[in-house]
Amino acid sequence: AGDTLSFTPTMGWNSWNCWGINVSAEKVQSSAKAMLDKGLADHGWNYINVDDGWEAPARAADSSIVTNSKFPDMPALGSWLHQRGLKFGIYSSPGPLTCGGFLGSYRQEESDARTYAGWGVDYLKYDWCSYESIADTSLEGYIKPYRIMQQALRKQNRDIIYSICQYGLKDVWKWGREVDGQSWRTTEDIEDTWESMERIGFSQDKLQAYAGPGHWNDPDMMIVGKVGWGENLHASRLTPDEQYTHVSLWCLLSAPLLIGCDLDKLDDFTLNLLTNDEVLAIDQDELGSQAKRVSANVWVKDLADGGKAVGIFNMDTTRRTISVNWKSLGLDDYHVVRDVWRQKDLGVLQSSFTKSIAPHGVMLIKLIK
Ligand code: DGJ
Repeated sequence: AGDTLSFTPTMGWNSWNCWGINVSAEKVQSSAKAMLDKGLADHGWNYINVDDGWEAPARAADSSIVTNSKFPDMPALGSWLHQRGLKFGIYSSPGPLTCGGFLGSYRQEESDARTYAGWGVDYLKYDWCSYESIADTSLEGYIKPYRIMQQALRKQNRDIIYSICQYGLKDVWKWGREVDGQSWRTTEDIEDTWESMERIGFSQDKLQAYAGPGHWNDPDMMIVGKVGWGENLHASRLTPDEQYTHVSLWCLLSAPLLIGCDLDKLDDFTLNLLTNDEVLAIDQDELGSQAKRVSANVWVKDLADGGKAVGIFNMDTTRRTISVNWKSLGLDDYHVVRDVWRQKDLGVLQSSFTKSIAPHGVMLIKLIK
């Protein structure tokens, strides 16, 4: 594993924000098909991750974990995905039960890791939930269950990305790398409101030092397109400008990018939002450096080519004109400024850049060395 397993942040789809526990193999396949048919896969989206809700109510006689009737054939689903060049993700919890009340992996870690590997699983999201009740409250008590599953996964003859989901408890970013987690959730669950996205996304600056190739802070999944957690599916309540802010910020943060909507019903706006290669390249930049906040409105990310990606965010509910000085970014030369969303050079600017920005909107630029 180490640093190469998820050298850049994962890009894919996860069933939870759309289907909740009403997920099924059919729904998963329909999103996977859409990922291919709508061209998302050509832009780097390739993980198809089944979240909570696939587990049967009881284990098999040999105590191995089995699927419920909505997932009639897991190995077949795995090879169906692999044949199409996609990767296969699954979900469990270190406690006796998952968050949705299904069977967790407590005391069955090796058996479960073996089962996943046999199914062709490439990614495991391991979600804290019921372990809370049995954890000893020391730091080590919180780390232990993650270490146990990590050891079980690494015994398999298969690369399995290990996604730690523990909502930032016990400063998980400080030990997530040590237990070879490729990412760790840093907060509570995201919702499709400006308040939730803003609270989570714009509080990530203190975690900047912990991200790097192979190990990423995870501010949770993308709340774009149709979401609803299995009930009342509705278009994301983020305005279009708020969605540009959401995607720009997640890319600046080097966040794992997991789409959570029904890809089969993907609208053109959302498809566009998720297939802008210059924007995605900021997330996938191989330097793997998470953006730093340099002022109330400005975040800057160093890029492998020596350039910088700069997000200028308008946090207000009215239009505002915002400037960025090269000095505040530690630069003092002329720079070519490129508008990343529109993929167009704006000119060579000597010392600063000024732009009127929509409410809750963003201007994402690249300064080319
Ligand atoms: C809590 C996690 O944060 C969610 O992303 C999802 O995995 C649910 N648990 C599943 O029960």
